[in-house]
Amino acid sequence: MILITLSFLRDYERLAVFKEAIDEFAISNLDKDLDCSNSNGDINSDDDKKLDCSLAYDLGCGSGVLSYLASDYFDKIISIEQNRSIFKCANKNLKSFDNIEAINQNVLDFDFENYPKADLIICEMLDTALIDEEEVPILNHSKKYLKENGKIIPQGIINSAEPVFMNIDYLQYEDDEYQPIYEILGKSVIYSEFEFLDDIDEDFSCIIEFEIDDKYSDKKTDASFEVDDRCSDKTDYFNKSNDKIKVNGIKLTSFTKLNENIICGPTPMLNPAMLVPFEEIEVNNGDKIRIRLSYVMGGGVETIKTEVLDV
Ligand SMILES: C[S@@+](CC[C@H](N)C(=O)[O-])C[C@H]1O[C@@H](n2cnc3c(N)ncnc32)[C@H](O)[C@@H]1O
Repeated sequence: MILITLSFLRDYERLAVFKEAIDEFAISNLDKDLDCSNSNGDINSDDDKKLDCSLAYDLGCGSGVLSYLASDYFDKIISIEQNRSIFKCANKNLKSFDNIEAINQNVLDFDFENYPKADLIICEMLDTALIDEEEVPILNHSKKYLKENGKIIPQGIINSAEPVFMNIDYLQYEDDEYQPIYEILGKSVIYSEFEFLDDIDEDFSCIIEFEIDDKYSDKKTDASFEVDDRCSDKTDYFNKSNDKIKVNGIKLTSFTKLNENIICGPTPMLNPAMLVPFEEIEVNNGDKIRIRLSYVMGGGVETIKTEVLDV
């Protein structure tokens, strides 16, 4: 029986979509004649349910819960976790599974060459826009150890942005604990999309054009929020002065593409939306503004830069 922590009990949505994607992978690959020629001979199974000579990696396995969800389908799963105390938890959770090997190591130091190529890489080092976790560098490094038709779960990510006026001047995730007050001031723009099987440049930069439209402010995060102590008084918050509209940030929202069929928006445990400030500007309804957004994927939130280019 796998140990489930309290946070994982709250993590139903995230685990449900990963389970579905892993199940779908197994169903659609069960009858395929997979190439075993690279096998080092360690990978054998009599179990009909398992893919022929199949290998999966779970990179950054955390508690091991995704390895557990995949354990019915593969001859071997290699579950790698660099954090010592998290690894201990994974090791305890996974030790009764004969087909799972838990390894306490940085994925970047792992010797993939010693193993056959894999059918599947599961890598859930996700966070909003892939900035603060190492999903992209880890996959850029490890996807060459996939079989020709191998897959990655999740398969990719779609990032969108909305212009906002918010009551903070620092970066903030919108999670259970902190609910900044903000007003959405324009239509959501998809500004990047990545497929993890592609080579991805970790240095990301783009220019996002928004059309300011205060009708979206009706759909804003409204005053039903509990206000964080650090927030200013709601009553002097909103927004118009002299018929101008103040804009001072963007809200980034990531949608995780588990596979071709499953796209998951933010959940409490997966990619909560992020509010990123920029210098305050005053605009008219209908104005277009252009914002440069740049960051390093896997480089941490301190790499995020915003610049107002023109109004
Ligand atoms: C968001 S957690 C996900 C845990 C797990 N996959 C799950 O679904 O519950 C990401 C995990 O990746 C681990 N990690 C981050 N960078 C790593 C690296 N370079 N090598 C190995 N593990 C890493 C972290 O310690 C963390 O436990």
